[in-house]
Amino acid sequence: MAISSKVEEMDAITALKTRRAVRSYTGEPVAREILEDIVDCGRLAASAINIQPWEFVVITDRAMLARVATIADYGKFIAQASACILVLCRDTKYYLEDGSAATQNLLLAARAHGLGSCWVAGDKKPYAETIRELAGAPAGLRLVSLVGLGRTTEKPAPEKRPLADVLHWEKY
Ligand SMILES: Cc1cc2nc3c(=O)[nH]c(=O)nc-3n(C[C@H](O)[C@H](O)[C@H](O)COP(=O)(O)O)c2cc1C
Repeated sequence: MAISSKVEEMDAITALKTRRAVRSYTGEPVAREILEDIVDCGRLAASAINIQPWEFVVITDRAMLARVATIADYGKFIAQASACILVLCRDTKYYLEDGSAATQNLLLAARAHGLGSCWVAGDKKPYAETIRELAGAPAGLRLVSLVGLGRTTEKPAPEKRPLADVLHWEKY
């Protein structure tokens, strides 16, 4: 199967407004340069006192994707993803906020590259340590999230709370 390396970036506002969790993928491989660019966007996220506690493990091996999918209870679709990016953080005071900011950047970068992706829970899950070990990551790193991604034809449209319901000018 040909590896698609087309770099079709969209503007940030469009990526932000059209990103939705995608859990079904075509299986078409994604070029390494695109995966690298997505991680590059992750590592540029904001972090408390710029501590950048993160490490990213990109899994593309099909057998490994299948194993991760078996372990992550709500991440079975990772078995069909082209890649899964693990976001691991050193156990700093704000590791969860920092790792979450990095994770959101991954989702948006994936969208900007025309890919579907989905955040799968890592932190607080009983399987977090199992996946960390499976990935060969050092003890002490916290698995914040797993991001499954790939090309997709799915266009999910979960309902979102309207702007007028959530926006409060000056006072609640
Ligand atoms: C902290 C967090 C954990 C999540 N864990 C999972 C998960 O384990 N499996 C899954 O399918 N989706 C997971 N999601 C994705 C959410 O279900 C999804 O973002 C939500 O339904 C809103 O849909 P949207 O992303 O399309 O806006 C998670 C999202 C967040 C922020």
